[in-house]
Amino acid sequence: MSVELVTRPGIDLTAEARVVSNAVDQLFAGLLESKGDGRDELYAAMRHAAIGGGKRLRPLLTVAAARLFAIDEERALRAGTAVESIHVYSLIHDDLPCMDDDDLRRGKPTVHKAFDEATAVLAGDSFHALAFEILAHEATHEDPFVRADLVLQLARASGTDGMAGGQMMDLAAEGAELDLPAITRLQQLKTGALIEYAVEAAAIMGRLPPEARTPLRGYARNVGLAFQIADDLLDHSGDEQAAGKRLGKDADAGKATFVSVLGEERARAQADMLVTQAIEHLHGRGEEADLLRAIARYAVERDR
Ligand code: IPE
Ligand code: IPE
Ligand code: MG
Ligand code: MG
Ligand code: MG
Repeated sequence: MSVELVTRPGIDLTAEARVVSNAVDQLFAGLLESKGDGRDELYAAMRHAAIGGGKRLRPLLTVAAARLFAIDEERALRAGTAVESIHVYSLIHDDLPCMDDDDLRRGKPTVHKAFDEATAVLAGDSFHALAFEILAHEATHEDPFVRADLVLQLARASGTDGMAGGQMMDLAAEGAELDLPAITRLQQLKTGALIEYAVEAAAIMGRLPPEARTPLRGYARNVGLAFQIADDLLDHSGDEQAAGKRLGKDADAGKATFVSVLGEERARAQADMLVTQAIEHLHGRGEEADLLRAIARYAVERDR
C-alpha cells in the first residue's frame, strides 16, 4: 500500500496487507495458469485483472475477522480470495462501455482496453464461477454444511439482493434525485453486501451461532458504508495517480452519491462517525480485534 498505515501500536496494517496481497496473488496465479489452447487470452485477461493490484480489502477483512475465532489463516485466505474473485468480476464489468466506460483500473488499462470487450465479459463470467469453485473445495472447510453456507451467502451478496442489484440501482441513480436513505440502500447493496460477506465468512467458518454474529455484522455494515463514502469522496476530490482509476466520473454522469447528497464536509463527517461506530461494535474484544480496528480506520483514511 502506498500510504503509511501504522495506526496503533502492535498492528502494522501495511505489513499485514502485504502478506494477504501476496497470498491472494499466489492463489490466483495457481488458478489462472494458461493451458496452451484457445483459452489463453481469457487466462491472460484474468491474470491482468486479478494479480498484482488492488487494496485486497475484502480478503484482509476475512483474515482479520478469522483471527477472532482462531480460524486457520489458509482457509480464511481461500474464502477471502473467493470474495475478491467476485469483486474483480464486478470491477471488470463495471468498467465496460455499457456501464462506466472506464479505461484505467488499478493503475493499468481496463480489461476491455488491454484485451477486448468479449474477453472482458468472459473474464468477469469466469471470476464469478471461480469464486464458488474456491468455496466449494474441501480445502476451504472440511464441513460440507459450512461450505454450502459459504456458497449460499456469497450468492446472496453477489446477485439481485447484493452487488448486482446495487449496480442496477446505481445506473438508475444517473440524473435522479435520491435522498439519503435511498443512497444508503443503493450503496449497501452495491458495495456493502460483499464487504459484509467478507466478515460474515469468518463467522460461518467459525460456526458462530446467529445471535453471536450481531456485533460483527454491525461492524461490517458500518465499514462498508464508510468505505463507499470514501470512494465517492475520492471520485470527488482524490488524486487519479494515487487512486489508479479515473475520477470525477460520478459528477460527470450526474450520479447521486453520498457526496452529491451530503456535500463533501458532511460526507467526510458521516464516514468518520461510521468508523467510530464500527470500532464500538468491537468493544470488549482484545488485541485479536486490532486488525479489524485498523482496517476500519483505513477505510476512510485511504487515498486509493
Ligand atoms: C472499488 O473497490 C469499487 C467499489 C466497490 C467502491 P476497491 O476500492 O476495493 O478497489 P480495489 O480492489 O482496491 O481496486
Ligand atoms: C462500482 O462502483 C462498485 C462495483 C460493484 C464494481 P464504482 O463504479 O463507484 O467503482 P469505481 O469508482 O469505478 O471503482
Ligand atoms: Mg459504477
Ligand atoms: Mg466505476
Ligand atoms: Mg466510484
